[in-house]
Amino acid sequence: MDEKIVDARKLIADMPNITVLTGAGISAESGIPTFRGEDGLWKNFRPEDIATPQAFLNDPRLVWDWYEWRRKIIREAKPNAGHFALVELQKQLSNFTLITQNIDGLHQIAGSTSIIELHGNLWQVRCTKCGFTEQNYEVPLRELPPNCRQCKSIARPNVVWFGEIIPMCIIDKCLIAIESCQIMLIIGTSGVVEPAASMGLIAKQTGKTVIEINLDVTPSSGMYDISIRGKSGEILPLICQINKDYN
Ligand code: OAD
Repeated sequence: MDEKIVDARKLIADMPNITVLTGAGISAESGIPTFRGEDGLWKNFRPEDIATPQAFLNDPRLVWDWYEWRRKIIREAKPNAGHFALVELQKQLSNFTLITQNIDGLHQIAGSTSIIELHGNLWQVRCTKCGFTEQNYEVPLRELPPNCRQCKSIARPNVVWFGEIIPMCIIDKCLIAIESCQIMLIIGTSGVVEPAASMGLIAKQTGKTVIEINLDVTPSSGMYDISIRGKSGEILPLICQINKDYN
C-alpha cells in the first residue's frame, strides 16, 4: 500500500476528532460533472449567466433550465465508495463533522449525518419573496420556474450563487468544527472558491493535521501534511477503515 495512505490511516486511527471538507471531486465517480478541469461544467457554461442573482433576475427560466438539467443528472446518481467510506468513518469516531460544498445531497443518501452544506442544496427551493423553503424532489419539475406554495411568488434553487454571502451561522459552524478537530480531511476540491478555499489554511494555522485527497495537485497541496493523489472512491475506503489491521 502507498506509504502516504498508510500514514494517513495511522493518523486517523490515533486521532478521533475529524472534520472533513468535500468538493465536487467526491461525486465525480458517481457520474456528476465537476466544475473545473477538462470536462468541468465551467468549460461549457459561464457562471455569470446561470449562477448569479443577476442571471436569475435577467432570465429565471434559463437559470432553472440549467438546474433542472443538473437535477436530472443528480437524481440518477448514487453515492460511491468515497461517500460510504465517510459514513463508516463517522461511526468509528467520537467527533466528526462533514462540511461539503456539494449541493447534490449524496452524503445524506449515503448515510452521513452532521453535515454542513456550505453552498446549499439542489433539492430545496426557496421563495424569492417570503423566503419559504421546502424540499422538492420532482424531476422534472411540475412548474418551471416553480412558484412558492405560500405566496405564489417565483422560487429559486436554495443554493449559494456567486456574489452571494454564505450565512454567518454556517461559517461559524465550520470554524467551530475546524477548531475542535485534530485532523482535517480535504477531499476532491480544487480549493479556489472561498470561503472553503481557506479552510485548510485555517486548520493548519490552528495546529491541525491536514490530509488532502485529490486526483490532481491543488494550489494548497504543498501546505498540507499529507497530500494523496488518486480517486477518493479508491483512497477513502483504504484510509477510513481504521479498525482494520493495516500492516
Ligand atoms: P472543482 O470542479 O473546482 O474541483 C474538483 C476537484 O476534484 C479538482 O481538484 C479535481 O482534481 C478533483 N477530482 C476530480 N475527480 C476526483 C476524484 N474521483 N477523486 C478525488 N478528486 C477528484 O469543484 P469544487 O472545488 O467543489 O460553487 O468547486 C467549488 C465550488 O466552485 C463549487 O461548489 C461551485 C463551483 O463554482 C458554486 O456554484 C457557488
